[in-house]
Amino acid sequence: MNFISLIHAKRDGGRLTDDEIQWLIAEYSADRIPDYQMASMLMAVFLIGLDPDELTAWTDAMLRSGDVLDFSHVAAPKIDKHSTGGVGDKVSIPLVPIVASCGIAVPMISGRGLGHTGGTLDKLEAIPGFRTALDPPEFSKILERYGMVMAGQSETLVPADRRLYALRDASGTVPSIPLISSSIMSKKLAEGLDGLVLDVKVGSGAFMKDLVQARQLAKIMVGIGSSHGTTVTALITNMSQPLGREVGNASEIRESIDVLHGRGPPDLVELTFRLGAEMLVLGGVAQDLAAGRAQMETVIASGEAFEKFKEVVAAQDGDTSVLDDPRLLPRARNQHIITAERSGVVIEANALDIGVGVARLGAGRETKDDVIDPAVGTTVTARVGSEIEAGAVLATLRYNDDANLADAIRLTEGAFVIGDGPAETPPLVYEEVR
Ligand code: URA
Repeated sequence: MNFISLIHAKRDGGRLTDDEIQWLIAEYSADRIPDYQMASMLMAVFLIGLDPDELTAWTDAMLRSGDVLDFSHVAAPKIDKHSTGGVGDKVSIPLVPIVASCGIAVPMISGRGLGHTGGTLDKLEAIPGFRTALDPPEFSKILERYGMVMAGQSETLVPADRRLYALRDASGTVPSIPLISSSIMSKKLAEGLDGLVLDVKVGSGAFMKDLVQARQLAKIMVGIGSSHGTTVTALITNMSQPLGREVGNASEIRESIDVLHGRGPPDLVELTFRLGAEMLVLGGVAQDLAAGRAQMETVIASGEAFEKFKEVVAAQDGDTSVLDDPRLLPRARNQHIITAERSGVVIEANALDIGVGVARLGAGRETKDDVIDPAVGTTVTARVGSEIEAGAVLATLRYNDDANLADAIRLTEGAFVIGDGPAETPPLVYEEVR
């Protein structure tokens, strides 16, 4: 087969056969296709799309690029959660130890930051020493022992997604329904799951900007799951303003620890409970959402969920002293405060602008090899719908390097719209797709 002729075919609106897709994913995973050619193919897919048969073949080829794990010997129900990506979306970090403490086994394979959105792996790596690269035997050992494990794609775990994910991030090809759905579902289907809860984000800070697109993405992923015998529940949730107050890698770990201690901002806590309760119901350990929520509250109040997080961080070589004293997590040297120019009601706190601003401070990548700064970030104080006085703090930017500071300030200042109100506060969860 010839890769350039496949690029031509897709670019000109043609369709690729199963064999061609299988071949191109396998060749790229084996480093036999250069990034520049694959980036061109990704752009063709971004612009032309994949039909349902092509998407099935693409997802299967990614799934089979590495080991497909089998946890049938683990008695607990294997349920995972994945988000399509947002700003300040750190839900997985407190959620996994909470549901694992309730009797669910969570074999989570996550990703890094994509575009303006943060990634669970980058956040976890803000914990000094934490290793996200685990081979399948170690991944299984930690899951069996603690009922949870959080790792990244590797040379044996969905290597195709490991490579494509980084390439999409650096080639402007992230917000594509076939590329997002194949990326997420290949990872999740490689985990040997009984069920999956998806958080499909919609709004300025999400890759899906409106409900029609979000519904389409959710339905496609639910369909891929059911064709592989995995039950998938998707919640379509709001991402028009950042989730919680913290946007940045280390600061999101601090906020996640708050949730594990029964504190934390209301929207983050609420979404963690809602997604977790869905996981407990899907796994059959709770009869309904209310019972699931009560179980989650119990393991938070007893300290069990926090202790589980500490045990797993230690098992993955992370320094647990930063969990006991989050002030020890990386902190930026400088700060810049953004204040309100007038009194009124916060009408908008645009998640995209705030997320791009944080990426410009050094929390995101512009090329595949960029090294991120875990310490930088923005604390968002003003929430949509709240009344504020002129001069009140809207957000605080924390930075080490001022190379892109002016850009980050401009973006973050522009993210806030203050009006005379009242502001429409959108629901946290719009709808479910099953
Ligand atoms: N999460 C993923 O794993 N992949 C995407 O493409 C987007 C979000």
